[in-house]
Amino acid sequence: MKYDIADKKLAAKGRLRIEWAERNMPVLRLIRERFKKTKPLRGMRIGCCLHVTTETANLMRTMKAGGAQLALCASNPLSTQDDVAASLVVDEKIATFAVRAENNKRYYRHIDDVLAINPHITIDDGADLVSTLHKRKTLPKELIAGLEETTTGVIRLRAMEKDGALRFPVVAINDSNTKHFFDNRYGTGQSTLDGVLRATNMLLAGSTVVIAGYGWCGRGLATRAKGMGSHVIVTEVDPLKALEAVMDGFMVMPMAQAAPKGDLFITVTGDLNVIRKEHFVKMKDGAVVCNSGHFNAELDLPALEKITRKKRDIRHEVVEHTITGGKKINILAEGRLVNLAAAEGHPAMVMDMSFANQALGVEWLQKNGPKLETKVYPMPTHIDDSIAKLKLKTMGVKIDRLTAEQKHYLAAWEMGT
Ligand code: NAI
Repeated sequence: MKYDIADKKLAAKGRLRIEWAERNMPVLRLIRERFKKTKPLRGMRIGCCLHVTTETANLMRTMKAGGAQLALCASNPLSTQDDVAASLVVDEKIATFAVRAENNKRYYRHIDDVLAINPHITIDDGADLVSTLHKRKTLPKELIAGLEETTTGVIRLRAMEKDGALRFPVVAINDSNTKHFFDNRYGTGQSTLDGVLRATNMLLAGSTVVIAGYGWCGRGLATRAKGMGSHVIVTEVDPLKALEAVMDGFMVMPMAQAAPKGDLFITVTGDLNVIRKEHFVKMKDGAVVCNSGHFNAELDLPALEKITRKKRDIRHEVVEHTITGGKKINILAEGRLVNLAAAEGHPAMVMDMSFANQALGVEWLQKNGPKLETKVYPMPTHIDDSIAKLKLKTMGVKIDRLTAEQKHYLAAWEMGT
């Protein structure tokens, strides 16, 4: 088995952390038990490009239990947990190609290493496998379809579909209600602040936190920052989202106005150069700036470099830039996903649902993939709903059922009262 990881000796530590995460992934555990018995993925080769975390390790174990052959690389150079990668190789015998802080060349070589298994199915977080495949003249002969985990990946895929460039079907896992309602909102919300706190140990109470983007991630983040006592400012480009933020009780203004007010800035837009030179120069001395959107393109760091006179690593994952005029701006995690680079990513409890979608999505594609057209598909609603039901069950939460009379009432258009 081929692999490329930092250090096999880290496996024992990784094993324990994977086990810890597993305790909070009861839905995935149930799926794994079923997969172990029925082996629905027997004979399938699955190429995965995901953040190499404890939760991902549990998804890998689930698909392996289902009989799949797997290869895994990182979907971000800074998100790999080296102990997890080691355990996947040593304990699970899964071909893993991921080293924390790998350079771009190694990162893309690892993508090629995964594609070398000639996958039937790809699983992406950010569409790197899919876009690499699309640069090739010929696709792997047995390729059936792909699955995409995140908003940015789905946006890229929809753009490819619109341009007629997409060459095989893909399922947008991010669009499942049991994914973005929870993972993006509560997962990114909590883990982003976790990353900021581990990197800086700053006090959120009384701080002014500027959040760019009031989508699923942004609203989770804003609510949690408010709950910790911060004054939250939201910046948006979408009038509807901006209005929601106003009515949710947040201050809304352009970044140019927010720049001198913030103590902490977090971008979660999936967009490009959201914080630029004209914003950096207006910031307070000592401002902390980071990103939790998928790509490290939301902060215009090249522009910051141009006005940087002195730079030093002041803490782990904190680089202090002294800019022209003497102000200091602190950039966390090189502008990459701060929740994964400076903390451990989303809690397992929420990834349980995201990865239940992935595991059941692979099973669904195994049966239905060959019938699909070259399009971006949502997960079938009945699978999405079944995950919500299972999650509630594992949490011991019961809900009411419609009575026959209520079903009739809700389906009838003639009845007024
Ligand atoms: P979304 O589409 O729900 O929200 C993005 C929001 O940003 C939209 O409301 C949009 O109007 C706004 N926006 C776009 N350009 C802007 C600008 N220049 N200034 C201010 N606002 C702007 O997307 P979602 O699901 O919230 O995801 C956001 C990003 O976070 C994506 O890149 C996604 O892939 C990533 N993501 C990161 C995770 C993590 O672990 N850190 C987890 C899930 C998603």
